Amino acid sequence: MNHIPVLAKEVIENLNIKKDGIYLDCTFGAGGYSQLILESGGIVYCCDQDITTKKYFNDLSAKFPNKIHFFHTNFNFIDEILAQNNIEKLDGIVMDLGVSSMQIDDGGRGFSFQKDGPLDMRMNQSDENLQSAKDFVNYASEENLADIIYYYGDERDARKIARAIVNAREKEEISTTSQLSNIVKKAKNFNFKQKIDPCTKTFQAIRIYINNEMNFLITALQKLSKLLRIGGKILVVTFHSIEDMIVKKFFSSLDKGFYNSNYELLNENFYANHQFKMEKKVITPSNQEIKENIRSRSGKLRIIERILDE
Ligand SMILES: C[S@@+](CC[C@H](N)C(=O)[O-])C[C@H]1O[C@@H](n2cnc3c(N)ncnc32)[C@H](O)[C@@H]1O
Repeated sequence: MNHIPVLAKEVIENLNIKKDGIYLDCTFGAGGYSQLILESGGIVYCCDQDITTKKYFNDLSAKFPNKIHFFHTNFNFIDEILAQNNIEKLDGIVMDLGVSSMQIDDGGRGFSFQKDGPLDMRMNQSDENLQSAKDFVNYASEENLADIIYYYGDERDARKIARAIVNAREKEEISTTSQLSNIVKKAKNFNFKQKIDPCTKTFQAIRIYINNEMNFLITALQKLSKLLRIGGKILVVTFHSIEDMIVKKFFSSLDKGFYNSNYELLNENFYANHQFKMEKKVITPSNQEIKENIRSRSGKLRIIERILDE
């Protein structure tokens, strides 16, 4: 099934789209946000590190010729690509983090514990330098496994799970999602009454680690916030408490002017000008949206606006 964009109405309403304004969609996916921006008269530059999303771009580009431009890249590098394309300023930036429904539903990508497939989890399968989840699970130390599962998964049983992984891989290589999910279920004494699947947190943690999601989020936000025009906003939809915390803390530091534009910490007597205003309220999906799209349930939208130039 194609991805249903989460909090789409709220994102578009808050973006204040201007005709022929330039908007960056950092996480194109199936192009849900991009399409709405185009329909409201904006011009879209978009990227996705997963090349399989290109087909959705081709469809949109046929409907809106010359109004949308796609780049296959991690959003951490999109600032350089925009510069090469002579785009110096943006009227708005959207990020819709995590994985898409297409990625989860395709067992061959290895993101899902509900579908058997190779333990891969790389969003960018063309990047040969990225290690797969299989490499990580089979070669990482027990301590690293436990730390990643604990910190990126908020998983209380991380140490037990790491031990079980190490015991299992001594007998045979762990190469599929069902092997890993059976190991986790056993380690956590899975019982069918539990509300969330016992594998959710472990799979999420490994995915976040493999794709280096937290670090790219921080560096991209730092670089992209410099490109906003006055009145332009960054809107980020997160699905994970650490992601949300990163966005919240980063937006607060911009709002308060803790750093200059090179992100050098300033003495409190020399706070930078207040160039940004953060929307204090976090926006979450309505009950109706959650009913229609259960994957939206943990979505949180945070917004910041540039109010003054550097
Ligand atoms: C939740 S989906 C976005 C769905 C999209 N808003 C829509 O309406 O279809 C997230 C997408 O972002 C991509 N992605 C995640 N992290 C990325 C990154 N650091 N750089 C580029 N793309 C990324 C994923 O490959 C995935 O296709």
